[in-house]
Amino acid sequence: MKRLPLQFVVVICILVITGLACRAQTNANMNDNVDRKWWKEAVVYQIYPRSFKDANGDGIGDLKGIISELDYIKSLGVTAVWLNPIYSSPNDDNGYDVSDYRNIMKDFGTMADFDELLKGLHQRNIKLVMDLVVNHSSDEHEWFKQSRSSRTNPYRDYYHWWNADRGKPAPRYSLFDVNHDAWRYDSLTNAYYLHYFSRKQPDLNWENSKVRQEVFDIMKFWADKGIDGFRLDAFQFAAKDTTFPVFPVGYEKDFTKYYAMGPHLHDYLKEMYNEVLSKYDVMSVAEGAGNSFEDAHNLVDADRHELNMAYAFDAVDIAKLEGYSLVHLKEIFSKWDNQFADKGWLSVFLANHDQARLVSRFGNDAPAFRELSSKMLTTFIMTMRGTPYYYNGDELGMTNAGFTKIEDYRDVAALNEYKHQENTGGDMQAFMKRLAFESRDNSRTPFQWDGSDHAGFTTGTPWIKVSNNYKTINEAEQDKDPNSVLNYFRQVVRLRKDNLVLVYGKYTLLDKDNPNVYAYTRELNGKKMLILLNFSPKNATANVDVDMNNTRGLLSNYKDKGIYKVKGGVSLRPYEALVCEM
Ligand code: GLC
Ligand code: CA
Repeated sequence: MKRLPLQFVVVICILVITGLACRAQTNANMNDNVDRKWWKEAVVYQIYPRSFKDANGDGIGDLKGIISELDYIKSLGVTAVWLNPIYSSPNDDNGYDVSDYRNIMKDFGTMADFDELLKGLHQRNIKLVMDLVVNHSSDEHEWFKQSRSSRTNPYRDYYHWWNADRGKPAPRYSLFDVNHDAWRYDSLTNAYYLHYFSRKQPDLNWENSKVRQEVFDIMKFWADKGIDGFRLDAFQFAAKDTTFPVFPVGYEKDFTKYYAMGPHLHDYLKEMYNEVLSKYDVMSVAEGAGNSFEDAHNLVDADRHELNMAYAFDAVDIAKLEGYSLVHLKEIFSKWDNQFADKGWLSVFLANHDQARLVSRFGNDAPAFRELSSKMLTTFIMTMRGTPYYYNGDELGMTNAGFTKIEDYRDVAALNEYKHQENTGGDMQAFMKRLAFESRDNSRTPFQWDGSDHAGFTTGTPWIKVSNNYKTINEAEQDKDPNSVLNYFRQVVRLRKDNLVLVYGKYTLLDKDNPNVYAYTRELNGKKMLILLNFSPKNATANVDVDMNNTRGLLSNYKDKGIYKVKGGVSLRPYEALVCEM
């Protein structure tokens, strides 16, 4: 072989070196483009305190119970906890009816317990996000007691009253009321008060600046204690047109369209940002993201100074008793990702305390597929762009409760809807079937710690029945088994934390019309990952043009990593999940 002249070699070397330098330069720029924030990189674990762990044997989960499991929470690898409401409450809606925002619910313990919990979390480098329920309070809150006492009481305008002298106000739909009527007549002052949720949850009047100031003071109280974020419950409904105009017939079928993003909501959020959020290193997320992408952006675009991230329901809402279409699910996630690719930030979730269990709704809880489909869904949630929210118990693949009698249910929504159906001649059998599939109580049964009585949740009688599969599905068993759903969850969380590409990387949907497989890539700074998920109980093919020999498998929910190429794609086994580096 002829030797290359020296000048030529030098030129080539220079070209290679400049090339590398350019590449390094682009990487640096891209790094700069990633606006890193702790709350974007967080893995949020949601704890439903009533059902997590009972320390004093009264059958109700409590703060001391959570404290006793801090090492477990740490072992999951999660970096933030979102705690459902723990404030004083008569519990009409399990704490979403607050009677004192600066105190702890008696069932849950004391402020000293809270301080210990916060300290214990922080010692373990875990942040704490608190639920803030200020679209409404409890009717047992002092403000409401004052407010209802007379028409001239200084607290009267803390809530929405409509004097009956003016006749009945225009109808408003209530989610939890037996008659779905959001106006409750109170003879004491001959007036109606507004409650979008239950009768014991009167809506606060955000148009009153005193109410807003009260809320900001409450937020400061908790932020000064050192908490790391707020989840604003039902907040898209807070602002209202207080002339209460008539809505078109049938509005209740799409009440969000009329209730969400009322006048001045953005002003209130800006005020909240200036008064509170801007002064602390806290994350902020509101439940619901309005009616359009534009609404969602208006809530969370950083330059608008309102909230951090959107929490939208489009995806979680599609799973019905009849099933759901994967193509539709992909469409929703892809659209949202696309709309937020350059600006704003999303929450990623498919379950929470208002939904039935993840595996029972979006996966398959039959014994043959429960573990595989749980792991597959976890892989999905942890490999999408956005902040993942993961609900306690899903890391064990806990299933729906299997309740058949109305007496087993505890949720005010379920109990009142049952009465509503009875009163209006509904098909009770069909209703009970729907409830068994979608009731919120499905996700509120006690956490299954071990195979002992009441799943180790309590030594007393649990406030809601333990699912009867606790002997096979529980934390103690799964902790010992390296292939368990629990240990897989820990692995996926680690993978996400070790790979910024899974947090910030560009998302590209592949094989979009495939009815069984969800396939996509994530890319950042020259790093690329491929995620293949079979959402069906049968073998399926991902029609992706990838040479699997050139990929490195990082994770699989099958013991043997049996990737094989078929003509034009990759074949996947039932509910198989694969994450590979390309
Ligand atoms: C939110 C909560 C839900 C509660 C309702 C009323 O939707 O997530 O649990 O019942 O608001 O506060
Ligand atoms: Ca207790």
